[in-house]
Order: sequence, then structure tokens, then C-alpha cells
Amino acid sequence: MSNSDFTPRESFGSRFGIIAAAAGSAVGLGNIWKFPYVAGQNGGGAFLFVYLLFIIAIGLPVMLAEFSIGRRAQRNAIGSFKKLAPGSPWYLVGVMGVAAAFLILSFYSAVAGWTLEYIIKALTNAFAGRDETDLNLMFGSFISGTWRPLFWQLLFMVLTAWIVMAGIKKGIEKYTKVLMPLLVLMIVVLCIRSVTLPGSREGLAFLFRPDFSKLTADAVLSALGQAFFSLSLGMGTLITYGSYIGKNNNLTGTVIQVSAADTIIAVMAGIAIFPAVFAFGIDPAEGPGLVFITLPGIFQQMHGGYFFALIFFILLAVAALTSSISILEVVVAYLIEELNLARRKATILAGVMITILGVFCTLSFGVLSEVTIFGMVIFDLMDFTSSNILLPLGGLFIVLFIGWYLGAGPARREISNDGALRLGYFPVFMFLVKFIAPFAIALVFIYGLGLLRI
Ligand code: PHE
Repeated sequence: MSNSDFTPRESFGSRFGIIAAAAGSAVGLGNIWKFPYVAGQNGGGAFLFVYLLFIIAIGLPVMLAEFSIGRRAQRNAIGSFKKLAPGSPWYLVGVMGVAAAFLILSFYSAVAGWTLEYIIKALTNAFAGRDETDLNLMFGSFISGTWRPLFWQLLFMVLTAWIVMAGIKKGIEKYTKVLMPLLVLMIVVLCIRSVTLPGSREGLAFLFRPDFSKLTADAVLSALGQAFFSLSLGMGTLITYGSYIGKNNNLTGTVIQVSAADTIIAVMAGIAIFPAVFAFGIDPAEGPGLVFITLPGIFQQMHGGYFFALIFFILLAVAALTSSISILEVVVAYLIEELNLARRKATILAGVMITILGVFCTLSFGVLSEVTIFGMVIFDLMDFTSSNILLPLGGLFIVLFIGWYLGAGPARREISNDGALRLGYFPVFMFLVKFIAPFAIALVFIYGLGLLRI
């Protein structure tokens, strides 16, 4: 028997708390660090178009499916499948999710560590008087080091573990409720500054005017991977959070608000970054360094830039933190409920294992930069395997589970709060989870990995 059979399960305390925690998970480095650079590498506007399509046709139904599974089962990612589909191999979807959590947090904590270094750089006014080349060098020499990036990664993992250890209401919910609104405010300010820079129009055109000739199979797969990554889908994060959502919450409403917040913040990050990229003559396909190089560039052109740089990197770290806790929680909830560990022990165990893996990701920009597997350094391998393979595959099985295994009856009961809500759109949801989402994910996946040529 697992713990949760006799201890009352913790849950979020309020509606806003649910949104803040789930949006806190979704909004993170994926939106502000990754989205602009992946869009930049894949042609801008056309990528954005496909990305938005995936959010609507695949992201929304997968998110609703995850919340429903978690809330119905009242368990972690693996336990949920065991409970709803006893004696069947469906629990392996959860196992894949827990594995994805390990991989993602290992590289996520590396980048989150960079944001901490940049807080210190902002604080000590280290960007002052540096041009784009200098800022580029500064970033390059920092990430290729050994002890500094490792130190920050470790610190970040300690912070993450500390919040997760405090539990759902007193940890996750308490912090995300304050930190998320601050982040939104900051991005709005940055957008305004960026679009008023001379030469900003070219950047906006790059982001919003699609050139479909740039859309490769690779770009389409990256858009799918990015949609899953950004919405925190496909690995049971939202199954786990769903299990902490009260039975009277309108899940559809929560899904729409969380996805909208996530998408708007990603697009706003694009608006904050691309005009500046073009105004300063930086290559939009620059890669993972984009925010760490362009934004300090913009800050220098702003009145009060010192202050804004500082706030921005603090908030970027915070956005990363509200996401990383949701990733760690996937593993911790599993260890607590399935292996009967206490929360404290579970958090330390998961945290230590992930940090060890994370060291390899961080060092792949420095001493391990020559080590490549399938042509990728370890950092890229973790990112590619999790975002572009494990998450879409997890998402595929999650929609198949709801659409074909659990079926319309139980799904409707869960989503309508046992009939309390009228669900005019329910047939559309079922159609999406049964046919459209599985077919689209499978196709993009097979095509994107080069297993099929059209
Ligand atoms: N969605 C988070 C971000 O955009 C990352 C994440 C991925 C969180 C998967 C949880 C699960 O930064």
C-alpha cells in the first residue's frame, strides 16, 4: 500500500494558486531563453505560425488530458497510470516521463545557473561599455569555464530542492503566486523598449512575417518539441500537478489560461529580443547565447538600464525556478508515493542524482566540448532527446490513453466535474485526442526524425 492511501493528499489552496503553479511551470526558460533562439534558428515567422498551430491542435488537448488523468487518479505520473489501468503496461508512459524529468532538469539547471551568474554581472555593472562582440566573448568565456558554472548550477539545484521540500502549499504555491505577476510586468517593459529602438521593424518582420520556404522538416519537429517543452507537457508534470487540483476546479478554464499565458509570454520574449537582434546586427540564429548577449546590449541603450538588467535576470532565474520545481516534483511525487520515501529524503535523492547528470551538461561547453554522441555535445543530446523525442512520444501515449483506453465516459465525468459543468466542446476535445493529436504527433515525429521522406 502506498503512503497516499492513508495520509490525506496535499492540494493547492486556491484557484489563483493553481494557475500560478501551473503557469509557473509552463513559463520559464523555454519561453524567454529557448523560444527566441529556436525560432531564430528555424526562420522566425514560419516557425511561429506552426508553433501556434501545434499549441492549439495538440497542446490544449494534451494539457487537458494530463490534468484529467492526474486529478482522477490522485497520484504521481507513474502511479496514475497504475491506478487507472491496473495490470497493464500503460505505467511505462509514466516511467518515460520520470526519465524525461531527469534529462530535462540536468540541462535546465545548467542554463538556470547561467542566469544566476548574470544576476551578479548585472549587479556589478559588468555589461557597461561593452559592445556586442565583447558581450559575446564574455558569455563564451563564462560558459566554457568549469567551477563557476558548476557552482551556480549546484546553487540553483539547492534552491529548487528547498522549495520542493517545503511541499505544495507552503512551497510551490506560495512562491509562484508572488513571482509570476512580477515577471509579466518586466517583460512588458522590455518589449516597449525593444520596439522603440531604431531599426526594430526588421526584427518584428522576422518574427511575424512567415517565409514558408524556410520551413524544413527539422523546423517542424522543433516547433512540436518546443510546444511540448514550453507547455510542460508529455512527461507527467501536469499529471502530477493535476493530482493536487481540487475537484471543483474547471480544468478547461485552467488549461486555457495557462496556455494563453505561456504563449503570450513566449511571443513577448520574441518581441523583446528580435528587434534588438536586428538593431544591433546580431545573427538571429546565434543559438543558446541569444538572451545572454542581446539583452545586456539593449539594457545599455536604456535609461535605468542597470536597474532593468538586474531585475530582468532576477526574474529570469525566478521563472526558471518555478519551472524547475515542477520538474523535480515529478520525480519526488513518484518516490514518495510509489517507494514510500519521506518528502525530504525523496527530494534529496532526486536532487543529487539530477545534479550529477547536470554536471556533464554544464561541462559540455567546456572541458567536455569534444565529447559528442550522434554529433551532439551532451547538453544538446539531453535537450534533443527529451524535447523532441520523449515529450512528444509521452504526449502521444497520453492522448491515446484518454481517447482509446479510458474513453469518453470517464473523461467527460472528470472534465465536467461529475456533470456540474456543461461541456459543449467535449466532442471536439474527444475528436482531437482520438484522431487529430495522435496522427499529427506521429506524423511530425516520423517525418522530423527523417524516418519518412515526403
Ligand atoms: N515549460 C518549462 C519552460 O518553458 C520547462 C518544462 C518542461 C517544465 C517540461 C516542466 C516540464 O521553461
